[in-house]
Amino acid sequence: MDTINRRQWLKNSLATSAGLSLLPLNVFSETDTAHTRKNQIDNNDSVRRLLYNENHLGPSKSVEDIIKQVTFRSNRYSTFYEYDANALKQLIAEQEGLKPENVLLGHGSFEPLIWTATHFGSKGEQIIVPSPTFDVIGLFARKIGANVVPVEVDSDFKMNLTEMESRINPKTSLLTLCNPNNPTGTAIETDTLKSFCRMVSDKTTILVDEAYIHFMNSWKEKSMAPLITEGKNILITRTFSKIYGLAGLRIGFMLGPESIIAEMEKKFTLGFPGNMPNSLSVASAIVSLKDDAFLETSRNNNTKIRKEFCNALDAMGLNYLGSEANFVYFDVKNFKPYKELMLKNNILLAGGWPTKPNWARVTMGSEEDISFLFDKMKGKKWL
Ligand SMILES: Cc1ncc(COP(=O)(O)O)c(C=O)c1O
Repeated sequence: MDTINRRQWLKNSLATSAGLSLLPLNVFSETDTAHTRKNQIDNNDSVRRLLYNENHLGPSKSVEDIIKQVTFRSNRYSTFYEYDANALKQLIAEQEGLKPENVLLGHGSFEPLIWTATHFGSKGEQIIVPSPTFDVIGLFARKIGANVVPVEVDSDFKMNLTEMESRINPKTSLLTLCNPNNPTGTAIETDTLKSFCRMVSDKTTILVDEAYIHFMNSWKEKSMAPLITEGKNILITRTFSKIYGLAGLRIGFMLGPESIIAEMEKKFTLGFPGNMPNSLSVASAIVSLKDDAFLETSRNNNTKIRKEFCNALDAMGLNYLGSEANFVYFDVKNFKPYKELMLKNNILLAGGWPTKPNWARVTMGSEEDISFLFDKMKGKKWL
C-alpha cells in the first residue's frame, strides 16, 4: 500500500470503528458517557479521534509486514516459534538490561495494572495514588475493598511527592505514580523522581506507569526501570498502545523484581504459555521494539505538532500545561459548550474532570486535525 492509500485506509477504518462501537474509556468521571458521545456522532463518517492518545501515524510499516507474515500461524497457540511471547520477553529484557524473569506481559498495560490492584489491594490494604491521573489501579482496588488514598497534585499540577510519602502507614502496600502523567502531560524531574523512588521503595512498593515515556527526549534516561537492577521495590508499566501505534492489538507489559513478577504470573496467568497475548500482537511488539526509526519519527512528529498546538493556544491567550506526552491539557473556560462545539464538528476529546472542570485534554492528531480544531474555536467569544 502506498502512503496515500494507507492513510486513506487508516482514515476510513478509524471512522468506521468510531461510528460503530466507540466506547470511550472513562476513568476520570461519569460525565462523558459512551452513550451521549455515540448519539452525537452517529451517522458521521469522519470522526477526529483526539480522545484516547493514540498515535495518528498508525502502526509502523514493519508491523503491517509482520502481520501479513504471521497471520497464517493463527491456528497455533503463540508458543515455540521465532515471534513467541518468550522471544518478546527476552527482547524487552535485553533492551532494559534486565532478565526475562523481570517481565510480565499483558493485554495492554491495563491488564497488568488491574492485576497489580488485585495483588496489592485484595486484603483491604492502603494504596496511595496521585490525583488526577489515569487511575485504573485506584478504580479497581476500590471495587475489591482496598483503602485508596488519592493525593491531589500541587498548585503547579506537579505530583505532591512529599504528601504522598507522608500518607504511608503500616497498611500501605503500594504507591502509584504516572510519568508523564495523564491527563496533565507533566513529568517529574528525573533526579527528584529517582531519589524519591530509591528512598520510598524501602517503605512500600512503588508502581510507575510509563505509558507516555517514549514521547520524552532521551526517554531511557528518564525511566525508573534501572532501579529494578538496583534491587529496588519498583514496578514499571509500559504499553505498545501509544507511541508504537498498537492500541487495537492490546499489548503491554510490567517490569519488576523477579519475586513479584513470578508471584503475579503464577497468580494471574497460572503460567500457562498458550494464554500469552496473541501471536499477532506479540510479533507486532517485537518488530516495533526493533524499529527505532518509527519511534523517532513519531516522537519528532508529536513534538512538532505539540509545539504548534501550544503556539496556537498562546495566540488565543488560553492557559495550558507544558506537556511531555502526546496530548495537551488546557483551559477552555467552559467545558460544556466547548465539548458540544467539538462534538458538532465530529471531534472527540476528553476533559471536564473534577480537579479542573473547565479544562480539556486533546490528543496530538495530524496537523490537519489540529488546524481543523483551531478553526472551529476561532471567533468564539467565550474562549
Ligand atoms: C497513563 C496510562 N496508562 C495506561 C493506559 C492503558 O493503556 P493500554 O491498556 O492500552 O496499554 C493508558 C491508556 O490511555 C494511560 O493513559
